[in-house]
Amino acid sequence: MTSLVTTVTETLRYRGQLGQWSWVLHRVSGLGTVLFLILHVIDTSWAAFYPKDYEQAIREYQSPLFTVGEFLLVACVVYHAFNGLRIILLDYKPAWWAYQRRAATLVFVATLLVLAPTFILMVGHVLDFYGEEGRDIAGLDEIIETQAQFFIGFIVILVGALILSALFGLIARSRATFDLPGRLEAALWSFMRLSGLLILPLVFGHLAMMHVIQGVFDITGSGIGIIGTDVINQSGKAVEFVGQRWDMLVVGVAIWRVYDGLLLALVVLHGFNGLRGVVNDYTHPPLVNRALNYAIIFGAIALIVVGMAALLAGVDETAYRIAEDLTASAS
Ligand code: HEM
Ligand code: HEM
Repeated sequence: MTSLVTTVTETLRYRGQLGQWSWVLHRVSGLGTVLFLILHVIDTSWAAFYPKDYEQAIREYQSPLFTVGEFLLVACVVYHAFNGLRIILLDYKPAWWAYQRRAATLVFVATLLVLAPTFILMVGHVLDFYGEEGRDIAGLDEIIETQAQFFIGFIVILVGALILSALFGLIARSRATFDLPGRLEAALWSFMRLSGLLILPLVFGHLAMMHVIQGVFDITGSGIGIIGTDVINQSGKAVEFVGQRWDMLVVGVAIWRVYDGLLLALVVLHGFNGLRGVVNDYTHPPLVNRALNYAIIFGAIALIVVGMAALLAGVDETAYRIAEDLTASAS
């Protein structure tokens, strides 16, 4: 906790120190994206297992609150990606540290250059959607109800992890924090760099499809071609959008399932290992430190299992009808 306070106060005190701000922004943007990722992978699995809930989740993504969040998310991913590249380059070319201030400025400039046209296109999607009358927009009460379930889930996992940590402390008579062997830490350090490089094209491609070429609003566009496929979304249901993408075959390979599977594994391992680093920086009491590490390891495994299960299960065509029934009963 003291170190968290120090991070905040020192950052404010060192006003104008670009390196310090880059470090904080990299951390905040990484953590923000991880938070979104947890909700997003669970939501996406509903397309396969709870089609009605998936329709509702996408309705909420299309609400004004999430629309603002979507702009922030894109800014986080773009900044984090460019700054991550800077970190990787400087780690492998320490001689370039002499130019690190210039490199940090370049990252801000590159981020703005990419965000400007991206945001213009995204605003276009927003105006198209909200410009049409009679839209069924999710209310704040519905959003709070859905997000409360996630919040309760987080609390349950944290309490479970605290109990496990206390039991471990009692049985093993341990007052130690959760430390990985040095060799594994070194391998994870390299993994963070390698995975960052691999994630970059995957996540930018995903964002281009879901925000720029089409928008989050086109996921429920009836009669609109589905990005990355040669079919049209007949029902205008989000589950049909996902189902058709996952069923799209190129030379017998379900390319979007493979793509999403790679993205899922890399982004969860990278994001949760990053989260572990941040947690270990700020939590030193062994009971809490072990509990948070257990929760992170459990969370990463659970998320990969849930996401992969959805990819393997795919979306049944009856799900389209279930989703259609939902709309029919609502109107
Ligand atoms: C609001 C922004 C986003 C939207 C609207 C969106 C939309 C979608 C959709 C429709 C799918 C279903 C599969 C498909 O059609 O390919 C999906 C899957 C996925 N997305 Fe996103 N995405 C967004 C942002 C992100 C970001 C920033 C990440 C990475 C940090 C990400 C990671 C994933 C992963 C890993 C899957 C596969 C999940 C699974 O296997 O269950 N998405 N996304
Ligand atoms: C798009 C390409 C990406 C690149 C090039 C990249 C690169 C990096 C690098 C180099 C680090 C520093 C690792 C270290 O200090 O050991 C890092 C940390 C981190 N990354 Fe990424 N990353 C990317 C995407 C993501 C995504 C999509 C997420 C979220 C799911 C994420 C979450 C994090 C977190 C939480 C940290 C720890 C931050 C800290 O310790 O301050 N990254 N990333």
